[in-house]
This record gives sequence, C-alpha cells and structure tokens, in this order.
Amino acid sequence: MTEKTILKALKGDVQKTPPIWMMRQAGRYLPEYRATRSQAGDFLSLCYNPELATEVTLQPIRRYGFDAAILFADILLIPQALGADLWFVTGEGPRLSTITTNDDFAKLKTKDDTHETLAPIYETVARLTESLPRETTLIGFAGAPWTVATYMIAGRGTPDQGPAHLLRETNTPLFEKLLHLITLSTIEYLDMQIRAGAEVVKIFDSWAGSLKGEAFEKYAVKPAQVITKELKARHPHIPIIGFPREAKEGYIGFHEKTGVDCVALDNSISPEWAAKHVQKDGCVQGNLKSSHMVTGGQALIDDVRHIRQSFSQGAHIFNLGHGITPDADPENVALMIETLRENI
Ligand code: CP3
Repeated sequence: MTEKTILKALKGDVQKTPPIWMMRQAGRYLPEYRATRSQAGDFLSLCYNPELATEVTLQPIRRYGFDAAILFADILLIPQALGADLWFVTGEGPRLSTITTNDDFAKLKTKDDTHETLAPIYETVARLTESLPRETTLIGFAGAPWTVATYMIAGRGTPDQGPAHLLRETNTPLFEKLLHLITLSTIEYLDMQIRAGAEVVKIFDSWAGSLKGEAFEKYAVKPAQVITKELKARHPHIPIIGFPREAKEGYIGFHEKTGVDCVALDNSISPEWAAKHVQKDGCVQGNLKSSHMVTGGQALIDDVRHIRQSFSQGAHIFNLGHGITPDADPENVALMIETLRENI
C-alpha cells in the first residue's frame, strides 16, 4: 500500500499536491452534521456517543475526500474528566466551574482518574480505525495546557483570557500546579488515543499568542516540549502537530524547541514569511482564511493558489488558519479542494 499523503508530509516529503484537511471539518456548516447533532441531543452528548461521533467524523470524508479525519471531540473534555463542570450555552460557547483557589484545585481528580469519563472518546477512535477509507489518516488531539487552563480559570472564553493571566501573575504556584496537572493528564489522554489507533496527534494552543516573551517560553513552548518528549518516548513513530495560534515571532524555532513534526499556522502571518522562517525547519500546516469559506469566488481561488505556491518548496499540509465557521457554504469547501488539486 502506498503511504498516506499526510504521513508523507509529516516525514518532510515535498509533494506536488499537498494533502488537505480542515479544522472543524465536521461542524455546523454541514446539514448532515446538524441532523446527527440533533439526534444526539446536544454537542456534548454527541462527543460522548461513539456511534454518532464516528458518524460525524466520517461525514466530511464522504462528502469531500479529505486526506485526514480528525476525531470528533473537544479540548474541554479534559477539564470535565478532571472533575470540572462543563456545559455549552447556545450561541455563546462553553461554561465551566472555575479553578481560582487551592480549594478548587484540591477537588480535581488525578491524571489517572480521567479515563472513565474519556472511555467513549477512545472507543470513537477505535471505531474510526475500522471505518475510515484506507488512504485517510486519523488525527487525534488535545488542547495545550495553557489554553485549557485559561478556560478552567475563567470558566469561559473571554476576549483576552485576562483571568488566567491574572492568576499566573498573582498566584504563580497555583497556576503552575494546574498547568502541570493538565500537562500530565494530556499525555495520558493522547497516549490512549494513540493506543486506540490515532496515527497523528495535534496540540491546539489557541491562546498561545496572548503569552509574551518569557511567559511564552515557559507556558506555551515548555508544556508542548514536555508532552512531545514523553509521547515520542512511548510512540516514536507518531507525528505531532503543534498549533501555537497567533504566536507571531514565536513560530520561529517552534519545531526545534518543542520537537513537534509540524507547526500549524494561523492567518495572522503571510505564507511567504512562514515559508522563509518556519517551513525551513519542517512541515507546516495552513493557512487559508476561514472567511473564504463564507465568501468564495475568485478571491478564494487566488488565495489557495498563492498559499500552495508559497509553500511548494517544502513539506506542507493545506488547511485553514482556524476552524470553519457555521455560516460557511459547503460549496466553497469543494471549490477549495478542487483548486488545490488542479493540475498546474
Ligand atoms: O477540528 C475538529 O473538527 C475536531 C473537533 C474539535 C472541536 N473543537 C469540535 C467543536 C476541536 C479540535 C476543537 C478544538 C477547540 N475547542 C478549541 C481549540 C481550537 C480553536 O477553535 O481555537 C477550543 C478553544 C475549543 C473550545 C470550544 N468548543 C469553543 C470555544 C466552542 C464554542 C465555539 C463555537 O464554535 O461554537 C466549542 C464548541 C465546538 N467544538 C463545536 C465543535 C464542532 C461546535 C459545537 C456545536 O455543534 O454546537
């Protein structure tokens, strides 16, 4: 069997047509996703239902033939497995019980007590390994410790995750204890996903860009390095994708400092800049603007060609710079793929 295109890119192979998948490819822009979600009841029930979570993971593969499928779950399942309350408010986003004192922290479970809650997620991974087409790569994932901590501290998404920055400055020992617990739990969580059949794992650090200077090194780079080192010791052949979103200059050297095989790029940096400063160290992923999936047309075509061309001298996985939004037109996703795969 020929090797899967995503795995080739992650090994550093330069391919004429880069492989493609899309963040949030199983999501509300797809009518079939919305139907299955309502069958499950709500988003979290869908995450914990292996049969239906498998179904929504497969939907975009069937419709578009993406090169990779990403496990359907959420980065906030880890806090829930650690004992935090988690719920979603329609139209607003996640809510969690907050961790801001030593007493709150003391109520959390240990890294080895999360698996009972997370067992359905491992079952979804196992089911996917049975049902995906042979050429499709299965990606598992987790949130990076800093990003997960920001939600656990604030209890929700905020414009700047200020509450987490405040705790980090005013009670550093508690903040670091929390970060450490999430780091250890994340290693076990990703280890279990790999053992169930995930072929690649991705670490989402959506709030990395809000950390500056030394704080970025300590709380974005270091945890990614610790997780990568331990997973590589346990599973040497499993590639890891890091996504330090909006890290700007922090993208430079991120491959080397953390040991990840691929760095995912957001929309705030130009492909030319990233080709020169980041792709020289290894595979990159990205970085089409999600808004093109809403607006489509010639601008979408031009940008797909431009990104493909800019990264053509190195290893590249095509993706968006952030998740596709619910108002996207499924036709524009087809146009993106068709443009990427055209013969030029
Ligand atoms: O990429 C994928 O499709 C894999 C599954 C996945 C989801 N969320 C499904 C989801 C992944 C990898 C995530 C990551 C995630 N979740 C992040 C990091 C990446 C990013 O987007 O910055 C964050 C911060 C979260 C937390 C989260 N989950 C928020 C803030 C929200 C609400 C925002 C929104 O889009 O409504 C979610 C909900 C969520 N996670 C949905 C999906 C498909 C939408 C839920 C629904 O169907 O109503």
